Amino acid sequence: MRKPFVAGNWKMNTDSHTSVELVKAIASRTSEAARRSVHVAVCPPFVYLQNVVNALRKSGVAVGAQDIYYEKEGAFTGEISSSMLKDIGCTYVLCGHSERRHVIGESDELINKKTAAAILGGLLPIFCVGELIEERKASKTEEVVTRQVKKGLAGLSAEKVSAVTVAYEPVWAIGTGLTATPQQAQEVHALIRKLLGQMYDAKLAEEIRILYGGSVKPNNAAELMHQQDIDGLLVGGASLNADDFVAIIQAAM
Ligand code: 13P
Repeated sequence: MRKPFVAGNWKMNTDSHTSVELVKAIASRTSEAARRSVHVAVCPPFVYLQNVVNALRKSGVAVGAQDIYYEKEGAFTGEISSSMLKDIGCTYVLCGHSERRHVIGESDELINKKTAAAILGGLLPIFCVGELIEERKASKTEEVVTRQVKKGLAGLSAEKVSAVTVAYEPVWAIGTGLTATPQQAQEVHALIRKLLGQMYDAKLAEEIRILYGGSVKPNNAAELMHQQDIDGLLVGGASLNADDFVAIIQAAM
């Protein structure tokens, strides 16, 4: 059984005060039952990670970073390593988020190095894939997602990939209010699971969690979660509001 997983990606939002207030509100408003049945994580900006980790101690809510660099240490100005993230209490890290692919310009090869480094450093990567609107319109979704999965996980053994959570986030649904229909999302999730079965084995494909992301809100979360291959949600905008994020967690139970 795959345990549901809801993660909030705060992107470049909040400040030193609101970041802590937000997680305190999330931790105090999440029911006992939800805590037991859903894994929950938040991914604040780097500079607020330590405060958020401290505020969430013993809450059961995990903390993730939004990015990582693949080298262990050294002359890489501005970058953050897996050991630094582990050192301050992070559990997860986003790798290959669409904004890093399409705004910052990260390649599949770079994302592969980051994902491998995260696993090697003992972090759990949330490895993101998803097609652009032009690619969907040109019926290239399968081709694009297959390439991203194959290149992003290249060279990683089944044992290593068992640390990964995959997130399918169609780029056209991110921050646009346009959610993929549950059927559209399910179709791609099933494709990813089948692909992982071919790349690794049936056990890994059955056990790996695949999250959906892209305009997830309290009013569409339950319907998305009812799909067979949707194991959780990666939430952007709605994770910045404690009531909305808690409602999404409850919907994922
Ligand atoms: P929104 O929920 O704001 O569409 O963002 C989704 C996302 O990119 C999460 O990583």
